[in-house]
Amino acid sequence: MTPADFLRSLWKILAGRPQVPPALAGNPLVKTIMNRRSVRQFKPQPIPEDVFSVILEAGRLAPSTVNLQTWSFAIFTAETWKTAFGSAIPFRAQKAVIVLGDTHRNRAVMETFPHSPLVEYTVAVTNASLAAMNMNMAAEALGVSSVMLSETGRSGLLDAGYLVEKLCLPSGVFPIMTIVFGYPSQAYPPMPPKLPLNQITFTDRYRETDPVILQDWMDQMQAGYKASHLFSSFEAQLQVYRSKIHKAEEDLKRMVFYGPED
Ligand SMILES: Cc1cc2nc3c(=O)[nH]c(=O)nc-3n(C[C@H](O)[C@H](O)[C@H](O)COP(=O)(O)O)c2cc1C
Repeated sequence: MTPADFLRSLWKILAGRPQVPPALAGNPLVKTIMNRRSVRQFKPQPIPEDVFSVILEAGRLAPSTVNLQTWSFAIFTAETWKTAFGSAIPFRAQKAVIVLGDTHRNRAVMETFPHSPLVEYTVAVTNASLAAMNMNMAAEALGVSSVMLSETGRSGLLDAGYLVEKLCLPSGVFPIMTIVFGYPSQAYPPMPPKLPLNQITFTDRYRETDPVILQDWMDQMQAGYKASHLFSSFEAQLQVYRSKIHKAEEDLKRMVFYGPED
């Protein structure tokens, strides 16, 4: 990418805004949703227990398939995380929740997913992800920032096999992501490049995204990453994921198709 292309891409990122009709932009919930950002820099300021309890309650009350509530949340403070994982919570956040899909619990009272491991896994992931988003939004509404993580060194989706042992997870419990929470230490970063609505929607038949717009988005992704990580690159970050994906794939296959108790 030439320096001119790099600057052009950065400019496009900085010019990006949520598209909301002015008459609706003042709605507090709409504002919270539109202004949310993944935050990776936190102050050493504790989150009051009542505030954190509301965040967890938002997870508990999330919608789920047939109200099955196929989730569990492993909850950590900075101290308990250090004891469990031997390091600070990623980005020195104050609290962490490992969100797990959980179809194990209900097996005690019903047979919900006979011989359908992919459906079972998908339902667990879908519902637990909705609970995660509910927690994320409740946090935002209360001034607490967060980021969802699948690659945290030891506690994300890509470390599913490790977490099974670490957290003694039974068959039917799948690590999905870790959410870390805290008060932001800086102003929110700019909105990362989001594809235009008319490129991600269709009405009758699936429509391929315009390749020029897709390439432009990719250029912005690379430029944005470079601007915030001078000594790395988007490609290098993808490489971190790729280096862990094969092992994670094998671990997940084992968990989804042949749980430890099967
Ligand atoms: C399931 C999930 C996993 C994610 N994993 C990571 C991660 O491992 N590391 C990270 O820095 N950000 C992670 N993110 C945050 C994304 O990078 C972020 O959502 C994306 O860049 C868009 O930015 P925004 O959330 O500010 O809109 C994850 C987000 C989701 C939803």
